[in-house]
Amino acid sequence: MWAMGRAMGENRIDPCILVIFGATGDLARRKLFPALYNLYLEGWLPERFGVVGIGRRLGSEAAFRDEVCRAVREFSRKVKTEVCGDFLEGFHYQQFDLDEASGFLRLKEFLASMDRTRETRGNRIFYLAVAPEHFGPIVDQLAASRLVAEGGGWGWRRIAIEKPFGHDLASARELNQRLARVFAEEEIYRIDHYLGKEMIQNLMVIRFANSLFEPLWNNRHIDNIQISINESQGVGTRGRYYEQAGALRDMFPNHLMQLLALVAMEPPVDLCTKSIRDEKVKVIRALQRLTQEAVERDVVRGQYTGGNVDGEAVRGYKEEEGISADSRTETFIALRLFINNSRWAGVPFYLRTGKRMPRRSAAVVIQFRTLPGTLYFKEFGALEPNLLVVKIQPEEGVFLQFNAKELGPGGGIVPVKMNYCQNCDYPEDSPEAYERLFFDLIRGDQSIFPRWDEIEQTWAFVQPILDAWASAGEATGQGGVGLPVYPAGTWGPQEARDLLEGEGRNWWLV
Ligand code: BG6
Repeated sequence: MWAMGRAMGENRIDPCILVIFGATGDLARRKLFPALYNLYLEGWLPERFGVVGIGRRLGSEAAFRDEVCRAVREFSRKVKTEVCGDFLEGFHYQQFDLDEASGFLRLKEFLASMDRTRETRGNRIFYLAVAPEHFGPIVDQLAASRLVAEGGGWGWRRIAIEKPFGHDLASARELNQRLARVFAEEEIYRIDHYLGKEMIQNLMVIRFANSLFEPLWNNRHIDNIQISINESQGVGTRGRYYEQAGALRDMFPNHLMQLLALVAMEPPVDLCTKSIRDEKVKVIRALQRLTQEAVERDVVRGQYTGGNVDGEAVRGYKEEEGISADSRTETFIALRLFINNSRWAGVPFYLRTGKRMPRRSAAVVIQFRTLPGTLYFKEFGALEPNLLVVKIQPEEGVFLQFNAKELGPGGGIVPVKMNYCQNCDYPEDSPEAYERLFFDLIRGDQSIFPRWDEIEQTWAFVQPILDAWASAGEATGQGGVGLPVYPAGTWGPQEARDLLEGEGRNWWLV
């Protein structure tokens, strides 16, 4: 059933209640409800299952059910016309403020009554689809109201939290301590939605199930690896959050570094959750730590100004809603890093992400070394390198670039591509990341949810960058030093290209 790993107790699908905090918010509407709906359509939800939405905005259960139904119609990859009724039957709503202790007590009673009617046996998932400042207070209230201790020892408890897991290393540790006072590590599901994406699930299979690739996956045969997550959108309505986060915090200690870990880790001894997580954390620990000089040399940030994306004029970051006119928040980051182990010593990894790039694309590019002086070199000049590209989105697939003879008698040598696309013909068949995340959350398989030490190690890598920027900011004031700009609709500042071009390499556009 599953590509990335397997936990003890797999296939056990207990009845349970899913409690969603932030059920009237954007994430729930766009991602969570449509994902639950698709699992329902495909018969993956437990037979005895209920959802309780917690929110402030809506006044009644009927209004909540209407909203869920509308969300499904608008955002689900599949919609069956008459199905909203059945699907919604298990959906309930509780309206209260998150700092209202009596709300949690009412919730406790409500869940106990649902256990009786829906036979859900005291099993609970608390899903925190709320802003991070609410994580700690909700967890404290769950403990104070004994919502996590109730049930007389029967039933299990899980908590799912959305990134960001802290703002820096210290706050991540603080948040974790607060969670750990109430939940055991085995009960904590940290959501990094990239790990639910189909092609990221596929990375381990592509690496470890192909004798074509695995023997070449090292510094003897690979010249460099590029991991890019490019977005064409700007910050939209999330300015307030983004202004505090910036591209580094928003995308690095989570999506990009998880991807890096899957690309670079050693093969796990088996597919158990612990074995996979152990290998991921090992490779993250092996990252060469960046000194202040290395940050100056190897890390490029940028901020978009007005420009054109998809033929449409768009405004600059500083003109976006909720952004200050002298903002020094980066909307783009590119960096070069190295891994200090025998497989990867000397191979540069280039990671980048940015908003308002020319198009949306995420991919891993493996560039193989070129062959030393073959007879072809002399006659035809330098050959194009072999590339293996794992395309994560919007196209999902793999392509392999290799050299072949040009057609016809006088032909030279040309790079050709073998392209495999798994979502081109039937895009609606490709599950959304949140379907996979719910699927595993409900079954209690933690493999695609990062463990605390992975999070801690990724912050430990990122922290010197934050420190170096903070001290550069102090030294240079608000003059814009160290923060080049790039027009919306371009691939980031020139400095990001220089990072590779100085070494005779280039970013591959995929
Ligand atoms: C989120 C970030 O985690 O991922 C957003 O906070 C970003 O800023 C988003 O836009 C990208 O996700 P996806 O799935 O659209 O690539």
